[in-house]
Amino acid sequence: MKLSIIALGLSLLLSQNVLLAEKQHHLVLSTENTSLGITANEGGRSYIQYYGVKIAQEDMQKLFATRSNFTCLSYPTFGIGLGRGIMEALSLQMPDGNMSTDLYIQKVEQSSDKNGKYLELTMIDSVYPVEVKQYFKTYNNTDIITTWTQITNKGKKGIVMNKFASANVPIQRGDNYVCHYHGRWASENYINETPMPNGELVLDEKEGMRTAWYNNPSFMISIDGKPQEENGEVFGGTLIWGGNYKIQMVAENNKFTITAGINNDNSAYTLEAGETFTTPEFAMTYSLQGKGGVSRAFHKWGRKYGLQHGDIERDILLNSWEGVYFNVNQEKMDQMMKDIADLGGELFVMDDGWFGEKYPRNNGTSSLGDWRVNKTKLPLGIKGLTDAAKKHGIKFGIWIEPEMANTISEIYEKHPEWTLQCKNRKQTTGRGKTQIVLDLCNPKVQDYVFSITDKLLTENPEIAYIKWDCNAAMMDYGSTYLPASKQSEVEIRYHIGLRNVLKRIRDKFPDVVIQCCSSGGGRISYGFIPWFDEFWTSDNTDAYQRLYMQWSASQFYPAIAMASHVSASPNHQTSRVTPLKFRFDVAMTGRLGMEMKPEDMTKEELEFSKRAISSYKSIRKIVQMGDLYRLISPYDHKSISALMFANEAKSRLVVFAYNVDYLHSQHVPYVRLSGVDENKNYRIKDLTPWKADQPCFLNGKVISGRVLKYAGLQMKDLLNRPFTSVALELTAE
Ligand code: GLA
Repeated sequence: MKLSIIALGLSLLLSQNVLLAEKQHHLVLSTENTSLGITANEGGRSYIQYYGVKIAQEDMQKLFATRSNFTCLSYPTFGIGLGRGIMEALSLQMPDGNMSTDLYIQKVEQSSDKNGKYLELTMIDSVYPVEVKQYFKTYNNTDIITTWTQITNKGKKGIVMNKFASANVPIQRGDNYVCHYHGRWASENYINETPMPNGELVLDEKEGMRTAWYNNPSFMISIDGKPQEENGEVFGGTLIWGGNYKIQMVAENNKFTITAGINNDNSAYTLEAGETFTTPEFAMTYSLQGKGGVSRAFHKWGRKYGLQHGDIERDILLNSWEGVYFNVNQEKMDQMMKDIADLGGELFVMDDGWFGEKYPRNNGTSSLGDWRVNKTKLPLGIKGLTDAAKKHGIKFGIWIEPEMANTISEIYEKHPEWTLQCKNRKQTTGRGKTQIVLDLCNPKVQDYVFSITDKLLTENPEIAYIKWDCNAAMMDYGSTYLPASKQSEVEIRYHIGLRNVLKRIRDKFPDVVIQCCSSGGGRISYGFIPWFDEFWTSDNTDAYQRLYMQWSASQFYPAIAMASHVSASPNHQTSRVTPLKFRFDVAMTGRLGMEMKPEDMTKEELEFSKRAISSYKSIRKIVQMGDLYRLISPYDHKSISALMFANEAKSRLVVFAYNVDYLHSQHVPYVRLSGVDENKNYRIKDLTPWKADQPCFLNGKVISGRVLKYAGLQMKDLLNRPFTSVALELTAE
């Protein structure tokens, strides 16, 4: 349905496209609990007047009356008339060298489809043949609004886009704090909270490939003081783009705006005659329930609209990496499949090390790009493995890193020009001193990368899961495919190419589960999630450090997408020794898996693992599809950390608590369950007692929601040693 609200009489054009008169539209775009208020003046500009708690259409008029002037242009352009404190979202250089763009609203349209409602503002430049369509979209049954633009060159000569952001949004000025997530390999996504300074604060990524590693493209901004978990007004935003991005926050006087989009640094893009460029969606929400409210809004939207198969429970798997690393062979794989099947697992994933004929993949120095089974290691081929999985009654998955090659590989010998490289310079190499990145700007390379997955899945339809890895930066910014004039477009075109490949894969193989891995958590971003089911949270599987990383990943990304594996102790990355129960209790807050050799476990450990896996199955739906309430943050160093998941009816809850900062005789806070229904009574069950017949003292107790919420659970005796933990299910009676 498209409802055109063009004021015909007003759209008389002057010779240079300037509209004769203005017609004001006060538009309110609402979700369940939020509203975006826009004033669009046909023949004039458009402004975002309001974004926050839900308001009615009539409020918009009143809101308008309280403002002495419009505050935030919906899409400010560079070069003419921008005042202090206003960041441009669009900067174009016209074919005659003119650096300015001057956009007027030509048309205002509203429409809807099965997913939500759209507002489309069509703007044209007063002189030059440029059209910009700005979109705002609400997603049904969520509190998320997205916005993006489409920029079209309607002329005959190329226009250079120097900046082309997706969004320009006002934030209520107050005692603002910015929360963002920063990390590196094996310590992804650490939470940073900082007061918003006067001036500019930039969050960006320039790594090219692992674009959520150093800075995640998601962030929150509180309105009044340090953000709280369940109280206070908090804005949350994320850019749905897998490439380099830039989020600029500008606070001046009473104004505070954010501009978010593709990172334009070294990335000028020439829009050819007739070409349209679509900027990625920027998604946002606004909550009165603090950070928790923002997270739950994104989780709900993420499951429904963001990731693949958000309504299907995930299998419990064993991944071979930390168990055998590159030493893959038929016997070991078979053994691991048997082991995970015996423990109640449902899927086995063979990681790196299975391919390469001329150059066998025995370490990180060779073979990427040569995706043929190494017959010495696996004489029966993939078929031998899928047959073995069938025999053990589980599914089979496989690791690939399709965007890459090594300089020692058959593909590189054949097509050195298919890899990213700068003209006249020696190629930079990454992992193993030989890893290089394929040039996805080139459609032939896109076909090749698509064919890797296509071949694997077509020849082996039993493959149920793919771990898609990416272990390199964009080291060399150059493409042999692109002409000289387009070398600055390499990074953007790479990601457009990658999207094309992923879309083709998804169109052909809608059911396969695909994990997004990138040296661990290098791609934990809604920019990748549309084609994936989950992400590998970190190569660091130390349960203690995972508590911090998972806590921060959970700020935006739902538990169903967070792969979390129980690994060996001492941990391979940190050497930390932790009890198996602790490791399970941590991994059970995401998509549970294992990353070790069950063969090496004791009988008691195996017996416990079997029970823990069976318990996880009983609460999997609540963790993977329920609402998350973070109760005590490990970042607060209050000796313990706790979190909880609740089903929609709040009739079933799962609570996890951990001793994270053990000091003798210290104060241990009560765990108050903020997300319970205070009118219900809940029976407690210990989900993971170390010994089956020795559950914790809370087991079997019936406690009222009011007590759980306001008095809380006393866990002093349970969490009285380093790395003690508890996992409880609470069922309403
Ligand atoms: C990356 C991944 C790991 C593993 C290795 C294999 O580091 O993050 O999980 O798959 O590659 O080489």
